[in-house]
Parts: sequence; C-alpha cells; structure tokens
Amino acid sequence: MPLSVLYSWFFTTLLCFLHVAFAGDPYVYFDWTVSYITASPLGVKQKVIGINGKFPGPIVNVTTNWNVVVNVKNDLDEPLLMTWHGLQHRRNSWQDGVSGTNCPIPAGWNWTYEFQVKDQIGSFFYFPSLKFQRAAGGYGGIIINNRPVIPVPFGSPDGDITILLSDWYTRSHEELRKDVEDGRDLGVPDGVLINGFGPYRYDDTLVPGGITYQIINVEPGKTYRIRVHNVGISTSLNFRIQNHNLLLVETEGSYTVQQNYASMDIHVGQSYSFLVTMDQNATTDYYIVASPRFVNSSWAKATGVAILHYSDNQGPASGPLPSLPDQDDPSFSMNQARSIRWNVSAGAARPNPQGSFKYGDITVTDVFVILNRPPELINGKWRTTLNGISYLPPSTPLTLAQQFKILGVYKLDFPNKLMNRPPKVDTSLINATYKAFIEIIFQNNDTTVQTYHLDGYAFFVVGMDFGIWSENSRSTYNKGDSVARSTTQVFPGAWTAILVYLDNPGIWNLRAQNLNSWYLGQEVYVQIVDPEIKDTEASSPENAIYCGLLSSLQKEQSHKFDFSAGSSYLCSKYRRLLLMLFLALLGNCVL
Ligand SMILES: *[C@@H]1O[C@H](CO)[C@@H](O)[C@H](O)[C@H]1NC(C)=O
Ligand SMILES: *[C@@H]1O[C@H](CO)[C@@H](O)[C@H](O)[C@H]1NC(C)=O
Ligand SMILES: *[C@@H]1O[C@H](CO)[C@@H](O)[C@H](O)[C@H]1NC(C)=O
Ligand SMILES: *[C@@H]1O[C@H](CO)[C@@H](O)[C@H](O)[C@H]1NC(C)=O
Ligand SMILES: *[C@@H]1O[C@H](CO)[C@@H](O)[C@H](O)[C@H]1NC(C)=O
Ligand SMILES: *[C@@H]1O[C@H](CO)[C@@H](O)[C@H](O)[C@H]1NC(C)=O
Ligand SMILES: *[C@@H]1O[C@H](CO)[C@@H](O)[C@H](O)[C@H]1NC(C)=O
Repeated sequence: MPLSVLYSWFFTTLLCFLHVAFAGDPYVYFDWTVSYITASPLGVKQKVIGINGKFPGPIVNVTTNWNVVVNVKNDLDEPLLMTWHGLQHRRNSWQDGVSGTNCPIPAGWNWTYEFQVKDQIGSFFYFPSLKFQRAAGGYGGIIINNRPVIPVPFGSPDGDITILLSDWYTRSHEELRKDVEDGRDLGVPDGVLINGFGPYRYDDTLVPGGITYQIINVEPGKTYRIRVHNVGISTSLNFRIQNHNLLLVETEGSYTVQQNYASMDIHVGQSYSFLVTMDQNATTDYYIVASPRFVNSSWAKATGVAILHYSDNQGPASGPLPSLPDQDDPSFSMNQARSIRWNVSAGAARPNPQGSFKYGDITVTDVFVILNRPPELINGKWRTTLNGISYLPPSTPLTLAQQFKILGVYKLDFPNKLMNRPPKVDTSLINATYKAFIEIIFQNNDTTVQTYHLDGYAFFVVGMDFGIWSENSRSTYNKGDSVARSTTQVFPGAWTAILVYLDNPGIWNLRAQNLNSWYLGQEVYVQIVDPEIKDTEASSPENAIYCGLLSSLQKEQSHKFDFSAGSSYLCSKYRRLLLMLFLALLGNCVL
C-alpha cells in the first residue's frame, strides 16, 4: 500500500475523531423507515403513510445550529422525497426534498439528508412532497429551539405541545390524485384529523361511535406553548380551545407582537405558536376544535375535535362547540391576518433584534404579479397555472441540470405578469439576481383561499386586500412590522403582497401549498446564483441520487439496510478534503 494512502487514512481517522469529539455544532441522527401502515382515524380502515410505524411521524426537536442527519428509507411502492417546510437550508437547496432539487428516492432505497438548522428558531413541519402523498400522512412537527445565549420574548412555558391539523379523506392518496387529474372536485373531506386522530364524539348524530380521539393532558394553572400546524390538503381551518385564550407568540420562525385571540384561522401550510394558560375550572375537560372556514353546513361532519384534559378531573367536556367567526365574510379573517405583526425588538436566532433588518427602507429591484387560475384543460389535461404557465417537472432535477450544465432542461423565462397568450405547460423558472430585493403580488383568481410557500426563505407579508392589486395598493403596505414567514394565504378575489431579500443562493420552490393546486402545476422555481461562488461549493452532495439524463451515473443501491453505520458516510464526506489537505502538508514537508 503506498505510504500516502496510509497517511491519508491515518489523517481521516484522526480528523473524524476530532470532528465527533470537538466539533462546535452537534450532530443529531435519525433513521426513518417510511411505509404504509393501516389506521382507522375515522373508523374506517385505510392505508396511511407512517414513519417507523407511526402516524403522524416523530417530532424533530432540535436546537439552532445543530446538524441534522436523517436517513430516510423508502418502503412505499412509489418514489419518495421528504421536504422540510420552512427550513431555509442556507446555500443548500440540495437538501430541500422537492422534485426540482432532488432525484426521488426510489421504492426500496434510502437516502440521507444532512443539513444544519441555522438562523431559525420556531415551529415548522415536514411532509412527503411527491405524488399527493401528504394526503396519506407521512408528516410531523419540527421544533427549533433557541441556543441558551439567545433570549426568548416570553417566560419558559411549562410544556411544549404540537398539534397537527389536516383535512382528511378515507379514499387513498392514489384515488385522490386520480380525481384531481380528472378534474373532479375532491368534495367535502370525511373529517379533520388532530394529530392523526378523528373527532371526539361531541354529537352522536355527526360522529359515529368507536373513534379514537386525541387527549391533551394538562395541569391547572400551568402555561403551555401549543404549536399548531395545518398540514392538510386544501382546507383553511379555524382553531380554538373552548373557554381558553390563545396568546399568539410565534409564527414560522418569527416572534410576533403578543396578542390574544379567541380563535385563529390557519391556512394550509401555516404554523403558529400560542401560549395557553390553563386558567379554567379544572372540574371538566374542554374541546379543542378545528373547523373548515368559508363553507356551508354540509361540511359539519368535517370538524376536528380533541380534548383538553385537566389532570385529576373526571368531568367530560360539555356544551356546544365554541362558535367560530362568520363563515360568509372573509374580511374578519383578512383583518385577523393583518393584525399579526412582527415584534421588532424581540431577539432573533442571531444575537440581534428581529427588526434590525429595515425591510421597509430597501429599494425593490424586481416586481412579479403572479396570477393563479382555477383548473382548466390544456392539451386535453386538467392543469393549473401561474401567469399562464403550468409547471412541468423535468426528469432531471433543476439543481443537477444546472451543475452538469445540461441545456434544455429548463428555461429562465418565467414572466413578471400574466401574458396575453394561451396557457401552456412548461419548465420555466424565475431568473433572479443574488441579493435582489423583490416584490411578489399573488392575485387569486380562484374561488377558494390559496396559500403560497417559498422554500429557502422567510418573506415579509406587507399587504393584502380584496380586489385587483394596482400600483396604488402599495400605499397600504406595512413597511414597519410585517411578519416574516414562509407561507401566506391569498383570499379568493383578493391579493397578497410579499417582499423578499434573495440572499440564499440555490434553486428554490415557490408553490401553491394547497395540494390539488400544486399537483396540477401551480409552482415555479427561483434560480439564485451567487456569482462569487465556486463550482465545488455549489455541487451536489456525495451521496446524491442521479436520475433522468444523468441516470447512467447512478449505481444500483444494495437493498440492505444497516442503520448502525450512521456516521461513516459523514466521515467519507471529508475524505476528499482531507486527502487534499494531507497532500498539501506532504508537499510542504518535501519542500
Ligand atoms: C417584544 O419583545 C420584547 C423583547 O423580548 C418583549 O419585552 C416585549 O414584551 C415584546 N412585545 C410584545 C408586544 O409582544
Ligand atoms: C426538546 O428537547 C429539549 C432538550 O433539547 C427538551 O428540553 C424539550 O422538552 C424537548 N421538547 C419536546 C417537545 O420534546
Ligand atoms: C367549578 O365547577 C363546579 C362544578 O360545575 C362548580 O361546583 C364550582 O363552583 C366551579 N368553580 C368555579 C371556581 O367556578
Ligand atoms: C355547500 O357547499 C358545497 C360545496 O362545498 C356545495 O356543493 C353545496 O351546494 C352547498 N350547499 C348549499 C346548501 O349551499
Ligand atoms: C439571468 O440573469 C442574469 C443577471 O442577473 C443574466 O446575466 C442572465 O443572462 C439571465 N439569464 C437568462 C437566461 O435570462
Ligand atoms: C377571475 O378573472 C376573471 C376575468 O379574467 C374575472 O371575471 C373574475 O371575476 C375573476 N375571479 C376572481 C375570483 O378573481
Ligand atoms: C443508506 O443507509 C445506509 C445504512 O444505514 C448508509 O450507510 C447509506 O449511506 C445510506 N445511503 C444513502 C444514499 O444515504
């Protein structure tokens, strides 16, 4: 064996040891097997997607700056990608887990995500991003805690509770996606699940017997942080707890001005943290409710009901469900959305206040008015469009096409506004400039609330109103304390304006979070290139899966899983670097 190889082995081993023993930012490892399991959340047996046999999946509870390594084994019968909704993956869209950034993990294969959770503190979630799988589950909460040196703008709560809300059908995700492909409305959901459980039987005529419901155990007098996520398909939900105030403190990684709400409208893909004090008579339980918004009484069966259980109490929850705001008037909901503001003096993930970035003073460099349309037939297929373009996912992910300079996979010609031309299906990206400050106005031409999510970023939600956006609408923008978040709602026949500073290079997904809108083509990717960046910095991770035009680079994966070898691949990541380092050192010695 040549001496240099021996030396490099020695160095690798030494550095791997140092890495494990002394590295500043800790590593945390998860091994997930994603498979179908049978569950009956609404009393009917059905196929749902579980993680390590559980639905919902485990909570990823980490602290900012930690390195998270998740080895995902795909035991489904179709391709899988897991996406980390709201995590910014700075300069690392390779870990984003959407069709434009990663080759899907084939059935029977595994793939290891590795990313650092940086400059973010708050409440997020993950879900499977392909093939309508989110409708079958596979989702779970993500908590990013502050480092101890970073203050939090409220006292330490007595407990931390995650609540995942989802509209739910007893049809499989394959049947649901077929309905969407065929232009059929999914209809009224069969229920709304709370943490994967069906409703408490608050009404014998609406809820059949034998359904297991969620019980949240609390102690009287204590204050809990309750993180609520709408991980569902397409239904806006009103969340409330009988007789209890919701003190809003955080949304999607930003501390808000703290305000009390009797209920909160949570749209698809949105996350909120509330502080809830158990200040009611501890002799009974209370209802936790999630009701579809802006619907009529035919939706009554689709009401999520869980139980808030005070310790030592035997009395059931009683009375009618707490009422919700007027179902026919979205202006209440819009005003509520406008009332959610950023606490500019609260600390951020870095040791400076959130408001130190004065977004209102920055000159906008580019404006996009993005208009959605309800599904329409394009070349005989039901599709949805943004500015007249329905996104076609290429078989080679955009990130790989960019790295290997394969021309023709995508175009950089996504229009700034609706063009006067027939709608089309295309792979058209936004060609954005690194460090540009852009304004996006979403104009909702559909008849239901839509939400939009941008990967890789938080944006400022500066305005929303009914009607058609115009230049004059800018005078209504909140330039001081708009909240920075990653998912915003757009009411039907209304617009929402966001501002975003494009300082995170990569190829990032901007999508309708409503699954049926997204599935039929309402998404676009934003390409942001840092001109200073070196090729090696932007290149794919060593374990990248290759597909499409690059599938010849992919070796067959041996279908054996050995989850004990967790850190070996991490060390191999450093091998190349270490060998170079070693050779450089050797060179110095020789000289
Ligand atoms: C904003 O954050 C500051 C700093 O942590 C805190 O003292 C203050 O109470 C918060 N204000 C509101 C209105 O939430
Ligand atoms: C998350 O982990 C921290 C320790 O890092 C722990 O204090 C906290 O209770 C955990 N939260 C949940 C919800 O498990
Ligand atoms: C709590 O409820 C019980 C039973 O309904 C009642 O007897 C008691 O007076 C209530 N206590 C308070 C403080 O409201
Ligand atoms: C209730 O809404 C559904 C659509 O969600 C609609 O099909 C139905 O006609 C409505 N019913 C009434 C009585 O308005
Ligand atoms: C994308 O934008 C950059 C400048 O930001 C420009 O140099 C380049 O030509 C554009 N590419 C296309 C295909 O328009
Ligand atoms: C959608 O646009 C059409 C015109 O293109 C308009 O007549 C209709 O009112 C719009 N609908 C909504 C909900 O904005
Ligand atoms: C698959 O899992 C094995 C065993 O845990 C691991 O060594 C390997 O690196 C994983 N493969 C990928 C591509 O992440």
